[in-house]
Amino acid sequence: MSPVRVCSCSGLEGTVYLPGDKSISHRALLLGAMAQGTTTVSNFLPSGDCLATAGALRDLGVEVRMPEPHTAVVHGKGLKGFHAPGTPINCIRSGTTMRLLAGLLVAQPFESTLTGEEQLLRRPMERVAKPLRQMGASIYTTDGHAPIVIVGKHLLHGARLVLDVPSAQVKSAILLAALHADSPTTILETAPARDHTERMLRAMGVDLKACDSDGVREITLIPPLHPLSSLEINVPGDFSSAAFVLAAALLLPQSHVRIKNVGINPTRTGLLDALCQMGAEIRIENERLMANEPVADLEVRTSPLEAVEVGGDLVVRMIDEFPILAVLATQARGRTVVHDAAELRVKETDRIATVVQELKRLGARIEERPDGFEIWGPTQLRGAPVSSHGDHRLAMSLFVAGLVAEGETVIDDLDCAADSFPGFLTIMQNLGATYVEN
Ligand code: S3P
Repeated sequence: MSPVRVCSCSGLEGTVYLPGDKSISHRALLLGAMAQGTTTVSNFLPSGDCLATAGALRDLGVEVRMPEPHTAVVHGKGLKGFHAPGTPINCIRSGTTMRLLAGLLVAQPFESTLTGEEQLLRRPMERVAKPLRQMGASIYTTDGHAPIVIVGKHLLHGARLVLDVPSAQVKSAILLAALHADSPTTILETAPARDHTERMLRAMGVDLKACDSDGVREITLIPPLHPLSSLEINVPGDFSSAAFVLAAALLLPQSHVRIKNVGINPTRTGLLDALCQMGAEIRIENERLMANEPVADLEVRTSPLEAVEVGGDLVVRMIDEFPILAVLATQARGRTVVHDAAELRVKETDRIATVVQELKRLGARIEERPDGFEIWGPTQLRGAPVSSHGDHRLAMSLFVAGLVAEGETVIDDLDCAADSFPGFLTIMQNLGATYVEN
């Protein structure tokens, strides 16, 4: 792990294709493993987190091949064909791997343990264990955290469950378990968490219905009588990775960037709505469907930005984008306020505390709130030594802040960017960013 020195940059120019979506890549592996037949995933994201899912599936006896870095081939085991792992399954730093696997494992007829690195062991796991228990699962956390021990069952009960936390990971774990239940399962969702699992399950032939009434989404899954069909999946580019390129292009003078093939699933693009309110010039072109997901090309130019207020459902639709929103807000005119976002405290790091601490080092006017932050802009940032705290999204946000800042910004660890966006530095360099690694 070597520090990265970022210099201020006069503008970004060019066209980029981004690596595949992280959430969809995880799901393609997991659901492909539960299907019958071979699933081929192109534009697969070979990030640290997705490779953790591939490794976990191999521990369960699934053949996952990567004939090239961006293609994964999964030989499905069907719903019940997994093997007991010989040792605890290491989910490394990936919360998605751990929580979704919990849903898969509660219905396998063997005992398993899910563990991971210290960063992951700090994250809350009762939120996934509790609804699975309501379906009859035997699942034990360690004081609410991993290691998680699962004593698998052949059959679970269908249930009617209210999502306490608007989390796509919890919702997805319930849906994976619900495939094995003796009756339908209904999930009541009060805020729009990402729906990639629902879209993929439908494409695999599962009877899954969703309807909205009075601000509540009711999702019902009927346990399938037939095996899940395998798929050919072409993964759209990750909107959460596009967010860093968009932000840098908006903030740096004389920028003009095209980002091709980006997923624009509305449960993911809250940042676009916030940016639109801030006055960003972003064009959405060539809208189409790819792997049952909406996709488009984005064209972005340097834009003067106004402050914005973000709260309520919008928080859920941009849950991973707050570190980069904070950087954008330092350059926007007025007071940006983020509220209803206490969930940020249990991400890879406490993203309220770490974002505030690190942006202050660069001279930002930012204050912590229990459920978010307030930022006054515009402020001329000044280069300084900063820490990513091992959090990929904070690392990339600090890199963008470093491009905007006067002088040199030294980031202690940018290797962690590869947890979600391998090739981040090369893509930024090809667009005109300069940095030195040492
Ligand atoms: C994810 C869901 C979100 C998100 C994470 C990926 C997913 O987490 O923050 O990066 O793939 O389901 P929560 O479900 O905890 O909100």
